[in-house]
Amino acid sequence: MEIKLKYDTPKEWANQVLENLDEFLQDHADAERKVSTMCMSIVAKYPDRSKIIAELTQTAVEELLHFKQVYELMQKRGLTLNGKFNQDTYLKGILPHVRTSRDGRFLDRLIIASIAEMRGVERFKLVGEAAEEEDIKKFYTNLYQQEKAHVDLFLKMATHYFSEEEIKERLEELLIIEGEVTSKLPWRPAIH
Ligand SMILES: [Fe+2]
Ligand SMILES: [Fe+2]
Repeated sequence: MEIKLKYDTPKEWANQVLENLDEFLQDHADAERKVSTMCMSIVAKYPDRSKIIAELTQTAVEELLHFKQVYELMQKRGLTLNGKFNQDTYLKGILPHVRTSRDGRFLDRLIIASIAEMRGVERFKLVGEAAEEEDIKKFYTNLYQQEKAHVDLFLKMATHYFSEEEIKERLEELLIIEGEVTSKLPWRPAIH
């Protein structure tokens, strides 16, 4: 299933990131930690969805590994985690649209996870392309490749429980919402 974002982040966005790279790394480390937690919270809330528990757990491990890698990069640059958590204005804009029924909520969360991964893919790629420092360029180019696999993964999980038609229809609606939310957010040195 293909995901085409409705709003393309302008290239110039990456310049602002590179000018505030330390701040970006703080946010990025948090984002990786949070997506790992999100995977395991789906496991906690939907323990009966046994077809996807192994994959969710594996994805949580991979995201935690990304956290470890970002943290190592921070350490190399002499940075420590500052414990300041930016308000997640991105998710705050999207989550009110999540349906409240058990199944609706389940599907929406998986779709939003895919879209958020896709947004990450788009932006890691931009950072990788714009970076001049070799280790930063390598890191983000590599990460972009890895996150690409996660986009499909969450959608595939959904196909165990919902028809392709239903997924596609809801995907389109949530893509429109995500595009609107993202286009209105002020630029920050943050992945979302
Ligand atoms: Fe990740
Ligand atoms: Fe990911």
